[in-house]
Amino acid sequence: MTEQRKNVLSCIQPTGHMHFGNYFGAVKNWVDLQEKYDCVYGVVDYHAMTMPYNPEKLRQNSWDIILNLVAVGVQPENLFIQSYIPEHTELGWIFNCFTSYGQLTRMTQFKDKSSQVEDKSKDSFISAGLFDYPVLQAADILIYKADYVPVGKDQGQHLELSRNIAQRFNNMVGKEYFVLPETLYTEVPKVMSTADPTRKMSKSAGEKHYINVFGEEARIRKQVKSAVTDAGASTMDVDATTGQREKGAGVQNLFKLLEACGKLDAHQALETKYNEDTLSYGELKGEVAEALVEQSAKFVAKKSELKANKKEIKYKIQQSSAEIRKRAQQTLKEVRQLTGLTNLKL
Ligand code: TRP
Repeated sequence: MTEQRKNVLSCIQPTGHMHFGNYFGAVKNWVDLQEKYDCVYGVVDYHAMTMPYNPEKLRQNSWDIILNLVAVGVQPENLFIQSYIPEHTELGWIFNCFTSYGQLTRMTQFKDKSSQVEDKSKDSFISAGLFDYPVLQAADILIYKADYVPVGKDQGQHLELSRNIAQRFNNMVGKEYFVLPETLYTEVPKVMSTADPTRKMSKSAGEKHYINVFGEEARIRKQVKSAVTDAGASTMDVDATTGQREKGAGVQNLFKLLEACGKLDAHQALETKYNEDTLSYGELKGEVAEALVEQSAKFVAKKSELKANKKEIKYKIQQSSAEIRKRAQQTLKEVRQLTGLTNLKL
């Protein structure tokens, strides 16, 4: 008999564009993991309500990110929209009662985000939802008995909390009911901003700090062309372990992008030139721009195909969410029984 495949779950917030940092750093990994594991991936619209937001935009962004994910290779049957599965919030409530208030106050993402809200305007406020965010996240994960959760290092603390909740729950009910989820860290390239290669490519830093995967070709080229190459300026120093000439942060980032795009031959050739000090940054940027545009063009074409049949893809996601929901419902049925809530069967 073949060994049972492990369960993988991850989720993404529906916030506007997908940039190459998101793609190479997370989403591409999601696509690859589908071969080896039973994967479910959620677009977490309930989570997106924890910060000041616009209702119309939220719905638009949810569908937009679904199209983006499918366009880059996530299988629609593995995708769900969180609010189609209200059991997540029900389990979230139950988990509130298994979560230590003190531990929640120590979450660094809460501290970061609440300071962002405070800076925004007088009318914005730090919602209880923002504080409670990691508990809902624990519900997202545990409801499907996920073995592995592919996330970045910034989510380590939330994963730890999920394990604590599972453990506390298991202790109370006296059996190993919930699986303790493990973080699945994969070696993924950390793409930096081309405008400031000392910081991560990210939306929050502003428009020039990220390159949109589904962006216009001319803009992608322009952004690569204006990439900063003198940050942490290159020297003729040679790294003692690799024997390679050291690179400044900007140049290193461009090489990394080339590699991430799978342009290994070009990468090798340019690396040789770099070591000989005969590489012009114009040439390097030209190759990187070409590689990104090529990637982007494939995805853009796929996305417009999907857009032309938007009804069909929406229907598919409703179906897949309904299918995935059955697993969530089964968990809730068992959890209600275990926790002493009134039994659903009359
Ligand atoms: N908190 C995650 C982020 O900010 C998003 C998220 C919500 C998530 N629920 C999750 C990630 C469950 C993994 C598993 O990116």
